[in-house]
Amino acid sequence: MKKTLLKIFCVLVIAFVFFFGTNAVVHTTSKNEFCSVCHEWMKPMVQAYAKDVHGGANKFGVSAQCVDCHLPQDSYVKYVFQKAINGASEISHMVFNDAKDAKWQENRANREKFVYNSGCVKCHTNILELNSTNQNMLDMHKIYIEKNNLKKDSVSCVSCHKTVGHKNLGKVLFEIKNPPVGDWE
Ligand code: HEC
Ligand code: HEC
Ligand code: HEC
Ligand code: HEC
Repeated sequence: MKKTLLKIFCVLVIAFVFFFGTNAVVHTTSKNEFCSVCHEWMKPMVQAYAKDVHGGANKFGVSAQCVDCHLPQDSYVKYVFQKAINGASEISHMVFNDAKDAKWQENRANREKFVYNSGCVKCHTNILELNSTNQNMLDMHKIYIEKNNLKKDSVSCVSCHKTVGHKNLGKVLFEIKNPPVGDWE
């Protein structure tokens, strides 16, 4: 019964986003404030973001939006589609579960599934030009380009840059259920 309800609910939400998925809707639901409606309540992610260079803690004063990293940026169709899928999953999860109980710490291991390279590349275009003087970095970014050109065992930016976007997320999530651990690398 619960399963059926869930399915009906998901279909309805997807339908809603597709039928009323005008620019305006897509726009409002792409703002950080919208994501924070639920994720503010899951404060750790938002706070860890605010402390990261990508949340604005950098000398340029620019910040990446939640959707820059968490939705594909290379095609509008993919973007809207993935957004509808996420929305259906997230809303149905909110209805049937308590998000506080979600396995956030464990789920970090799936980062390659919910963080998209296309957003990173939009800002870090120069990475793909391989013109740095840092040999280690050149070698690693070459691996990224080669693997992705071959289109098999492709790597993600976050396969290596595991924690970009949220400073000390692991520590913060750990300390929700455990005593403080002090400095954390
Ligand atoms: C209706 C409340 C709600 C809103 C609004 C919301 N989320 Fe979520 N989000 C959740 C819940 C609940 C989960 C955990 C369950 C799940 O993965 O579906 C989650 C999971 C996630 C995850 C982990 C995904 C995964 O595949 O494991 C990411 C990343 C995320 N949200 C980003 C966002 C972004 C970016 C936005 C804004 C576009 C957003 N969320 C808006 C409730 C919400
Ligand atoms: C620069 C890219 C970037 C930005 C911007 C960003 N994130 Fe993330 N996000 C990530 C990465 C990478 C991870 C995995 C990090 C880790 O494991 O330490 C992550 C993890 C998460 C998770 C945890 C998923 C889980 O199950 O543990 C949620 C939820 C989330 N982000 C939501 C958001 C929200 C909401 C915003 C905006 C306030 C945001 N993110 C901004 C890259 C980003
Ligand atoms: C809105 C533009 C934007 C997006 C999107 C973005 N970045 Fe960044 N990134 C920046 C800026 C600005 C800095 C800070 C540069 C500095 O301080 O020198 C930075 C710094 C970094 C750094 C070095 C600092 C650190 O935290 O270790 C890495 C690595 C990085 N970004 C990787 C990524 C990855 C991976 C993604 C995609 C998940 C991503 N970025 C998405 C703009 C962006
Ligand atoms: C195979 C591992 C690997 C992959 C995949 C990878 N990187 Fe890196 N990246 C590195 C290493 C290693 C460095 C050098 C770190 C250092 O020296 O501190 C680096 C450095 C960087 C920096 C810092 C640049 C600076 O001037 O300090 C940015 C930004 C960055 N990478 C973005 C990206 C983006 C965007 C992607 C995906 C398109 C990506 N990386 C994919 C390993 C990787």
